[in-house]
Amino acid sequence: MRGGNLLVRNGLIVTSEAMFKADVKVVDGKIVSIGEGLSNEGVDEVIDAKGMLVLPGVVDEHVHMREPGLEFKDDFTHGTKAAALGGVTTVIEQPNTLPPVEDSNTLLAKAKLLEGKAFVDFALYGVLYDSNVHNFEDMISSGAVGFKVFLGPTTGNIPPPSTGSLYHILSLSAKHNVTIAFHAEDNDLVNYFTNKVRSEGRVDAKAHEDARPPICEELAVIKLATIAKRTGGHAHILHLSSKEAVEVIKEGKVRGVKLTGETCPHYLLLSNEDYVKYGTLMKVNPPIRGLTHQQALWEGIKEGVIETIGSDHAPHTVEEKKKSVWEASSGFIGVQTLLPLTLDAALKGKLQLTLLPKLLSENPAKLFKLWPRKGVINVGSDGDLVIVDPNEEFTITQEWLISKNPVTPFIGWKVRGRIKHTILRGVPIVRDGILQNVSQGSWLKAIF
Ligand code: NCD
Ligand code: ZN
Repeated sequence: MRGGNLLVRNGLIVTSEAMFKADVKVVDGKIVSIGEGLSNEGVDEVIDAKGMLVLPGVVDEHVHMREPGLEFKDDFTHGTKAAALGGVTTVIEQPNTLPPVEDSNTLLAKAKLLEGKAFVDFALYGVLYDSNVHNFEDMISSGAVGFKVFLGPTTGNIPPPSTGSLYHILSLSAKHNVTIAFHAEDNDLVNYFTNKVRSEGRVDAKAHEDARPPICEELAVIKLATIAKRTGGHAHILHLSSKEAVEVIKEGKVRGVKLTGETCPHYLLLSNEDYVKYGTLMKVNPPIRGLTHQQALWEGIKEGVIETIGSDHAPHTVEEKKKSVWEASSGFIGVQTLLPLTLDAALKGKLQLTLLPKLLSENPAKLFKLWPRKGVINVGSDGDLVIVDPNEEFTITQEWLISKNPVTPFIGWKVRGRIKHTILRGVPIVRDGILQNVSQGSWLKAIF
């Protein structure tokens, strides 16, 4: 794996423990020293970061880049270019592509296909359902960093596993120390409420929220908490959207259950009051809910119940997003706006700045066994850095968004903080906000 030789001078380093002024020196792609007044000996480039914040490159644990099989929605080249522009240096790619990543052959084929196209480093999830749990060990030894399990209906129509299979999956998670990430909405309840709301003749965008109420997420998380408690397996609940689910995780944690949670910027920054404005553009699973839920998610972050923020980058075509509420696709792009939106929140005092490296880089890298190589500014770690100007204002525009389908509710949003440089293993892949033509991303395997 290639790596650059670079010195970043005079920046304000932000880690999960502290903020301090220092230089960071990267040689052969690895951080070799952190301190004041470092020499530029042996480096090819010096970046002056005076007045800027230097954060670890973001590890986005939740992206659907759509390749292979769904390239009409988006592809890996566009997705990883978007990542680079958004300060994301590692993406963990979801398995609901075509074919789904269900065994070591599909995993290895996907890795091979993507490696030549990656602008940032990437790792891969495998998917688990009833008929392929026997491939668990094989996929891990082939390089999967974790698994995704879909409990409720969503893009890809991957069937939910039986309760017996869930027990088996979480037992294997305990045995092999592997994180299992869940789309946690109870399938039967989603179907029940969807039929109910549809039969009422509802066609407004908010009907989607009512078709998947909080109890769907709550029940799914209660079930996972119970099985995780009994098996010792690790259940990581993705895209948390409700107060009730946060409470279940909080209680489970107190009792020592291996439960962790992720939320996404859209659950923190939008609410069901916005359906009038954005319509099906903000349709996503689980749905965006009321302000009480939004508030509970912020609390969950502050209390450490929610340990990661991922983007759930989920591109669909403009036509797919514009359909009627029951037909429109769920999800929208997010990898490029993950850091800008959360950085803005931090700079405006909604969240402690030192929480950003923890939520966006360190914790995802730990959960998916990429730490300490990824997710931290430390001697010996990869030289993955993002350098931002905290004083500049920046407007998210359609032109700035790199995607085949640059649609998101966040277009037009003004944020504080501008991403200046993104560094991947000591090589600037974004300089002064401009994407560089270096597609040198590598496939990362787990460090067990
Ligand atoms: C995701 C997608 O489109 O792949 N959609 C979504 O609404 N979140 C799938 C998922 O994670 O549920
Ligand atoms: Zn999901």
